[in-house]
Amino acid sequence: MLSGIQPTADSFHLGNYLGALRQWVAMQDTHDAFYCVVDLHAITVEHDPAVLRRRTKVAVAQLLAMGLDPERATVFVQSHVPEHAELAWVLGCITGFGEAGRMTQFKDKSSKQGTGGTTVGLFTYPILQAADILLYTPEPGEGERALRVPVGEDQRQHLELTRDLAQRFNNRFGETFVPPEAHIPRGAAKITDLQEPEAKMSKSASSPQGIIDVLEEPGPMRKKIMRAVTDTGSDVVYDEEKKAGITNLLRIYAALDGASVQELEQRYAGSGYGQFKKDLAQLVVDTFTPIRERTLKLLDDEQQLDRVLALGAERASGVAARTMDTVRDRVGFVGRGR
Ligand code: TYM
Repeated sequence: MLSGIQPTADSFHLGNYLGALRQWVAMQDTHDAFYCVVDLHAITVEHDPAVLRRRTKVAVAQLLAMGLDPERATVFVQSHVPEHAELAWVLGCITGFGEAGRMTQFKDKSSKQGTGGTTVGLFTYPILQAADILLYTPEPGEGERALRVPVGEDQRQHLELTRDLAQRFNNRFGETFVPPEAHIPRGAAKITDLQEPEAKMSKSASSPQGIIDVLEEPGPMRKKIMRAVTDTGSDVVYDEEKKAGITNLLRIYAALDGASVQELEQRYAGSGYGQFKKDLAQLVVDTFTPIRERTLKLLDDEQQLDRVLALGAERASGVAARTMDTVRDRVGFVGRGR
């Protein structure tokens, strides 16, 4: 399995954690797992080099603090493995222009950037994502030939494109890639903004009040949850249409606590929003405080982080190089000779 996350903020947020990262930690025990901090994707919008460098390290530290174990899982930085960009070029040459133009994330992001600010990199972003995934296709004979990608709901369309490209490549050039399966969690696939509960919680679009950062201090975390937008009623019940705010909080609570939404509705029947929010805030603080503390400690030892990344790059490169050898041969590139 493979998944990726962009180092585009000073902290991951609650949506990243519940939609994806928690599954990453669980799946390292059951899968041959590759986790990639996608810095090439992060430069598809304007960025500051020093900030990117810092955020990439903070991203890696958070992943380790959440429980990824570099002995069991391969944690690496995308730009350390140049095959990602190389395969993206090849896949770009079998992607239709119209097909890429239908990607809703591109349409959303480019409409925000305006025509002048939209880059070719932003347009081809999903093709690079397809390359990230397909490079880690298991070899025949490596056991079950499946490729799983744990992500939130917003990545579903990119995963569909990846499947299409895998199949198209296989049809044209011979069986090479395993079409990946999206592994999207049930309850927490789309955590919404605390202030705008119809919109996705998002690094780029949410206001600071709408987003809970993993690395946030407990005080502001509690405040944001207590101030989360709810409806004018007082019943803690799930209703996506009429009670989007409380429904989002119920989903978050259920995902963190392990209780079902129905159990929570019963637990809070008649107690109003205040107690419910207070308990939820405590749950979020208890989940993220140890992660914040471990992250800060890990960031104190840069050499250790660098060692983890060197090991990750070496392991990822081994697999990526092998896949690219096959790809080059299949598409008809002449070997270098010896
Ligand atoms: P990114 O960096 O935006 O988000 C990382 C992961 O968090 C999930 N996510 C959410 N889940 C639930 N609710 C939310 N509000 C929420 N916001 C974000 C995302 O679905 C994602 O799983 N294109 C990817 C990065 C990427 C990638 C890959 C992913 C590059 N290459 C290869 C998988 C495989 C992205 O922008 O994620």
